[in-house]
Amino acid sequence: MSRCDERAVLVTGASRGIGAGIARELLRRGRRVAGGYRTAPDPAWAGEPDRVLPVRYDLADDASAAAAVRDVTDAWGRLDGVICNAGCWRGGRLTAMDPGEWWRVVEVNVRGSAALARAALPALAASRQPSIVLVSSVVGLIGHAGDTAYASAKAALVGFARSLAKEVAADGVRVNVLAPGFVDTDMTAAVPVRSRQAIADATLLGRFGTVEEIARAATFLSEDATFCTGTVLTADGGWSL
Ligand SMILES: NC(=O)c1ccc[n+]([C@@H]2O[C@H](COP(=O)([O-])OP(=O)(O)OC[C@H]3O[C@@H](n4cnc5c(N)ncnc54)[C@H](OP(=O)(O)O)[C@@H]3O)[C@@H](O)[C@H]2O)c1
Repeated sequence: MSRCDERAVLVTGASRGIGAGIARELLRRGRRVAGGYRTAPDPAWAGEPDRVLPVRYDLADDASAAAAVRDVTDAWGRLDGVICNAGCWRGGRLTAMDPGEWWRVVEVNVRGSAALARAALPALAASRQPSIVLVSSVVGLIGHAGDTAYASAKAALVGFARSLAKEVAADGVRVNVLAPGFVDTDMTAAVPVRSRQAIADATLLGRFGTVEEIARAATFLSEDATFCTGTVLTADGGWSL
């Protein structure tokens, strides 16, 4: 495959955690990766200038979604996949959480993915194997005490993806959802040791997932699962059973 035939994929939240893992997995597969960052790009990418493109992207800023897509198409002339991974978590029981903060969690998580999908669709429609993956959470499927805002946002992504899948199937664009369980990243670093143990005990596989495991699931949906659209893939070690 020549360089200009290589699939180009935009991954948001690629500066660390699951997004950085997805970017590494795609690079391992020989893809070109545009890595969305909000604060600073992953410095590990400095050595791969022709295969990686850092793009600034903020979930809360619709204009940054359009600019990120433009950066990719200007640089590589194509966009084949989008993985909407960036997300933010704030916990707290409904009655304890400030209503403004509650809505910010819902809005930021849903708004950014919708803006990015909207901006990316014209470019994706020109690809031979276009796809969008939205990273939700198993918490959005089965609920979790202290997570009404985050779970609302993540559940909304499922309805969003299934509706969008119906809108864009005729253009050949697949839209799928990945719902991870608990994964070792900065997002879960603050979980107290006792709660971590309780979560691991409640997980059939007896542990948190790794970034690499979730990255392989995301990549599967993005490029291997060619007969899947509107699907929700749970990757939670059996926690939700
Ligand atoms: N870890 C888990 O257990 C778990 C479980 C289920 C689902 N998830 C979901 O998986 C995704 C990745 O989570 P993670 O664990 O890798 O989280 P993380 O380690 O906290 O990393 C979050 C990533 O999202 C980016 N981000 C945060 N707020 C953003 C914003 N407003 N605009 C643009 N980018 C923003 C961060 O960029 P900066 O570096 O610039 O802040 C970072 O790259 C999220 O959608 C999360 O909800 C995680």
